[in-house]
Amino acid sequence: MNVNEVSTRPFEGQKPGTSGLRKKVAVFRQPHYLENFVQAWFDSLDGHAGATLVLGGDGRFYNRTAAQTILRMAAANGVGRVLVGQGALLSTPAASCVIRKHRAFGGFVLSASHNPGGPDGDFGIKYNIGNGGPAPEKYTQAAFDRTTTLDRYLIVDEPDVDLDRLGETRLGDMTVEVVDPVADYAELMEALFDFEALRKLFRSGFRICFDAMHAITGPYAQAILEDRLGAPAGSVINGVPLEDFGGGHPDPNLKHAHELVEIMFGDDAPAFGAASDGDGDRNMVLGDRFFVTPSDSLAVLAANATLIPGYRKGLNGVARSMPTSGAVDRVAGELGLPCFETPTGWKFFGNLMDAGKATFCGEESFGTSSDHVREKDGLWAVLAWLNLLAERPGQSVADLVRAHWQRFGRNYYSRHDYEGLDSDAANDLMAHLRATVPGLEGMNLDGYKVRTGDDFAYTDPVDGSESLSQGVRVIFEDGSRIVYRLSGTGTEGATLRVYIERFEPNASKHGIETQDALADLIAIARGLAEIERRTGRADPTVIT
Ligand code: G1P
Ligand code: ZN
Repeated sequence: MNVNEVSTRPFEGQKPGTSGLRKKVAVFRQPHYLENFVQAWFDSLDGHAGATLVLGGDGRFYNRTAAQTILRMAAANGVGRVLVGQGALLSTPAASCVIRKHRAFGGFVLSASHNPGGPDGDFGIKYNIGNGGPAPEKYTQAAFDRTTTLDRYLIVDEPDVDLDRLGETRLGDMTVEVVDPVADYAELMEALFDFEALRKLFRSGFRICFDAMHAITGPYAQAILEDRLGAPAGSVINGVPLEDFGGGHPDPNLKHAHELVEIMFGDDAPAFGAASDGDGDRNMVLGDRFFVTPSDSLAVLAANATLIPGYRKGLNGVARSMPTSGAVDRVAGELGLPCFETPTGWKFFGNLMDAGKATFCGEESFGTSSDHVREKDGLWAVLAWLNLLAERPGQSVADLVRAHWQRFGRNYYSRHDYEGLDSDAANDLMAHLRATVPGLEGMNLDGYKVRTGDDFAYTDPVDGSESLSQGVRVIFEDGSRIVYRLSGTGTEGATLRVYIERFEPNASKHGIETQDALADLIAIARGLAEIERRTGRADPTVIT
C-alpha cells in the first residue's frame, strides 16, 4: 500500500456548525480543503485504526468525488473496513442505523441537508460517533482545533473503488464493502411499525403523497411505501435523487415543498401528505388541506406512542430543542413523562437517548425521531403518522390534531426567518438583545408581562457539559415566548430566526389562523429586536 504524505496548510473557518461543516461546493473543491478536514478528524479521533467506518451521503453534486477521497484517506489512516452505501448514498437516518447495527466505530455523512445542491450550491460533511449520532461538541471542537495546525494529510495512491457494485473490494490494506443503502433501514422500520396494518390501510383505498424532492428519500420511500406496503404507484413523487435536486430547495416546508402543498391543498387531495429533505432526516406532515406544525407532530406522536408496536411499552421520556413549542411538555405533564429542553441541534439528544432518558425527540425545524437511531428521521415520522391513522380508522389528520388540542390545549407557533443578512448587523442585533432582554423582567409590553428574559444555557444532565448562549428568550407571564437566535447552518451572510409561541387552552379559540393568533407577539418581537432598523428588512423571507 503506497501511502502519500501530502503537505498542506490550515484553512480558516473549518469549524463545524449546528450539523457538520457546510460550505459552498466551490469552497470544498479547493485543493486540499476536504482532505484537511477529514485528516483533522482522523488525527483527533482515538481508536479508528483497524476499526469499521460507515460512509454515504445524500447524492448531491460532489458526493461521489468526496466519497472516493475519504476512502483513500481512510485506507491511508489505517481504517480496517468501510461500509459504504451503493452509489455513495445513505440517508442520514440510514447512516445512523448502519453504524449502530454493524457496531461501527463511526461514520462520515456527506450532506448539506436541506441546502440547495449543484456546482453552485452547498456541500457538507459531518462525522457521527459509534452511537450513530452526530459527534458531540467535545469531538467537533477537537477536530476543529486540529484543522488550525494541520500541515500534512495521508492518502493512498489507488484507483477509484467501484461504488455501484454491491460486495467487498480492497483499497490498499482496507476492505470496502458496498452495501444496499435501503436494506438495513427498511428492516428496522419493519421492526418498529405494524406493516400489516399499513398494508391493510392502503388496501382500503387510503391515498398518500410523499414528496422526496429529488433527494435521498426517493429510493427509501419507494422501497418502503410503495414496494413493501403497497401504497399505490405514484404515491412517491420526485423520487429520483438528482445531484442538484432538480434545481429545487430540498427543505420540506410550506414554501419549498410547493408541489406537495398544491396537491394537499387542492381539489381531491389525498388523506396524507409528507415531504423529506436533502438527506432524509426532516419531515413535513400534511393532511387534506391541513398543515401539522413539527412541534404539534412531536406532541401528537408522544401522546399516541403506545399505539405503535415498537413503543407499546411506553416512552422513557421526551425531549425538544429549546425553540420548539411546549406542546410536548403538556403531553409529558399529563402522562407523567420526564421532559427535557436542549439547545438547537440533534447532537444534544444523543446523551439523553443513550442514557435511556428520552425515547421521542423533536425540533420545530421539521425534525422528529426516536431512539431507534441517533438522528432525526423523516420516513420514521411518516410511518409513525400512518401507523396512528391505521389505528384510528375514519379519522383524518386534522381530526387527530384537533382532538389533541382539545385535550391538551393549542400552542400557536411560528418561526420567522430573515435570511442573507449582513453578518455584522445580525451580530449587533443579538448583542443588543443580550444586553437588554434581562432588564425586561417584570415589564409590561403591549399587555404582555415579561416573566424572564435570558440567554439560554444548557447543562447536559448526563455528562455535565455546558453549552452557553444558545438563544435569547423572552418568556411572558402567560407562558408565551419569543426566542431569537442566529442560524448555525447557513453559508451566506447570517440568518436570524425568531420563534413565537402562545398557548391557548380554550378550544373555542383553536380555529384562528396562526399568524393572526400571534400578531401581537410578532409585533413585539420585531420591535424589541429593532429588526427593520438594524437589518433593513420589514418582513421575514420564510415563515414556517
Ligand atoms: C437548523 C435548525 C435545527 C436543526 C439544524 C440541522 O439549524 O434550526 O433545528 O437541527 O438546522 O437540520 P440552524 O440553522 O437554526 O442552526
Ligand atoms: Zn437534513
